[in-house]
Amino acid sequence: MLGDILPNKPSSKGGQVPTRSADPSISVRGHTVDLDAVTHRYGTLTAVADVSLTVRAGEIVALLGPSGCGKTTLLRLVAGFLRQSAGSVRIDGKPIDALPANQRNVGIVFQNYALFPHMTVADNIAYGLQAHGRPRDDVRKTVERFLEVVRLGEFRDRLPRQLSGGQQQRVALARALAVEPTVLLLDEPFSALDKSLRLDMQIEIKRLQRQFGLTAILVTHDQDEAMSIADRIAVMNQGRVEQFDTPINVYDRPATLFVTGFIGTTNLLRGKTLHSSNGTTTIALDAGVQLAIASERHFAPGTPILLSARPEQLHLYGEASADRWPVRRRFALPIGPNTMHDLETRDGATLKIVEQRIGAIVDATGEAWCGLRTEARPSLFESSSQP
Ligand SMILES: Nc1ncnc2c1ncn2[C@@H]1O[C@H](COP(=O)(O)OP(=O)(O)O)[C@@H](O)[C@H]1O
Ligand SMILES: [Mg+2]
Repeated sequence: MLGDILPNKPSSKGGQVPTRSADPSISVRGHTVDLDAVTHRYGTLTAVADVSLTVRAGEIVALLGPSGCGKTTLLRLVAGFLRQSAGSVRIDGKPIDALPANQRNVGIVFQNYALFPHMTVADNIAYGLQAHGRPRDDVRKTVERFLEVVRLGEFRDRLPRQLSGGQQQRVALARALAVEPTVLLLDEPFSALDKSLRLDMQIEIKRLQRQFGLTAILVTHDQDEAMSIADRIAVMNQGRVEQFDTPINVYDRPATLFVTGFIGTTNLLRGKTLHSSNGTTTIALDAGVQLAIASERHFAPGTPILLSARPEQLHLYGEASADRWPVRRRFALPIGPNTMHDLETRDGATLKIVEQRIGAIVDATGEAWCGLRTEARPSLFESSSQP
């Protein structure tokens, strides 16, 4: 499967993979979506609160956040199934707020966006094209082309129930793509699939993005899915976008405590600031150490803070030193090539740290010292901003 996203490699089925340059007869590429201060209320509940973001042409943006944070609502506003309470949605710079859903030309794939059960695969794909009043011959050619795109040519005459879940989702994708949408909207489209099928579909979406320059918005609550598919991630919490950035920046430079906690695993250590200058803040942790931390944010002396450090940013030592703090090792778990150590600090905080299993410095329990790795850039937050 991976060979398919690499150009000019023979496919696993032995044939030549078509070149991944754009198919000039398919013009999905080059559309932008702007959300401009979009708010949506259901009665008194604000489900989407003042969201502004731009999806660039050919970009996949993930809306990531816990259940109920407003992801589906935001997607339905773009699709035109809901009309926002305030703000504006633009495609290619033009407001589409007055257009009903069927005139927005967006492609939609939902988790349970069922295929028509009594129609063949080919007829399902043809449906939107016929609804657009496209000539018969044109419809037939387009259906064939998209059957190839999702590699279901040999299944054209089957009914949906004669396909696996993953194949059905590929038909749904082909159906959404066949009308050459300006933007593809995906709402948890893979969550009903098992892990390996999900991976296949994720690769499929990346492939379509490269092949057609597809612009897409993907709703997911799965951070791994967002990290692997999206060019940028909008992390949502209670209707708001807390950070909109690349997967790496969202992980390495979380903008808020919520983002730190939602993406990946982190360790929080309490303390207060001593002084801030020239991009460095010196802090005293309750765990019993003073540290100088690189920080773009300036903190007034005495500000209560939380230091957030990823498990891989910490290191366990056998000896004390000025920039290490004492910990009690409670247990250690082997996780593949790594060891996860569970530690307790002097002030009662629990730390999880990950070390490579080869050459472990200390054994599993007893006294040790914890420190930041030299290259680690942990984050500092005012602890009053804790949710
Ligand atoms: N049709 C509706 N009527 C009233 N409240 C709704 C409706 N749809 C969603 N909500 C509420 O709006 C909030 C956001 O929901 P939703 O957009 O579905 O979140 P997500 O997709 O992130 O799980 C939730 O509190 C949900 O209960
Ligand atoms: Mg949802």
